[in-house]
Amino acid sequence: MSKDTVVLAPCVSFVLNSDVSKPPRHIAIIMDGNGRWARERGLPRIKGHEQGAHSVRAVTEACAELGVKFLTVYAFSTENWKRPREEIGALMALLEQFIAQELPGLMENNIRLQAIGRLADLPNNCQRALTNAIETTAGNTALTLILALSYSGRSEIIDAVRTLCCEAVAGRLDPEKVDAARFSAALYTRDFPDPDLLIRTSGEMRLSNFLLWQLSYTEIYVTEKLWPDFGKDDLRDAIAAYHKRERRFGGV
Ligand code: FPP
Repeated sequence: MSKDTVVLAPCVSFVLNSDVSKPPRHIAIIMDGNGRWARERGLPRIKGHEQGAHSVRAVTEACAELGVKFLTVYAFSTENWKRPREEIGALMALLEQFIAQELPGLMENNIRLQAIGRLADLPNNCQRALTNAIETTAGNTALTLILALSYSGRSEIIDAVRTLCCEAVAGRLDPEKVDAARFSAALYTRDFPDPDLLIRTSGEMRLSNFLLWQLSYTEIYVTEKLWPDFGKDDLRDAIAAYHKRERRFGGV
């Protein structure tokens, strides 16, 4: 019997993700609860986002240490544009500052920065900071940190459908040849594997329009912790829970 097989009862066994020396290759995170964290302390919401940026740094470092290859964080959704103008402005300023501040650390730790979403919607200074960091870190190979910005799963799928329709109309694509692989190759995430583990903080049981196609077989871990309180030990707990899961990908 392999070390990955657990005997539950004499005639029942199943396979776990129990090679604990191997972390999930790709972790995706819905970073929720910044506003509640601030409210509990009588602070403005932006203070929660600022503290949330510290958690992004801590979790990125932890992923690099643990050997995770891809980390995708939901930093700003297409729906977040409906928030008050001051909060959007503060979040964009925080994003620009975060990218500039983190760049030396990303280089030092061999971390590549990437972004997914309707990036043209971002203010010009954010786009410039992002492009600069993406280009500067392009050759790094330890971990890829992917910021989902002005992102939603539905808009990503719509953009992919448009791309494929244009290809078909131009005569470069036979519609009969569209399959899961061809569709995946039209998504923003075409260069990344699907997430193995999705973490959502603050206890909400929703996908909130995040990576709708890519999460089909992802293990989901929800914690009550608010994102600004989520740290390295919480990441380790999430990975430990993942290692106890049975992944069958629709098989038996
Ligand atoms: C959700 O919490 C969080 C966001 C909409 C923004 C996430 C942003 C950060 C973690 C900080 C900046 C990130 C980077 C990469 C610089 P919420 O505001 O909806 O919280 P609530 O549900 O408690 O109100």
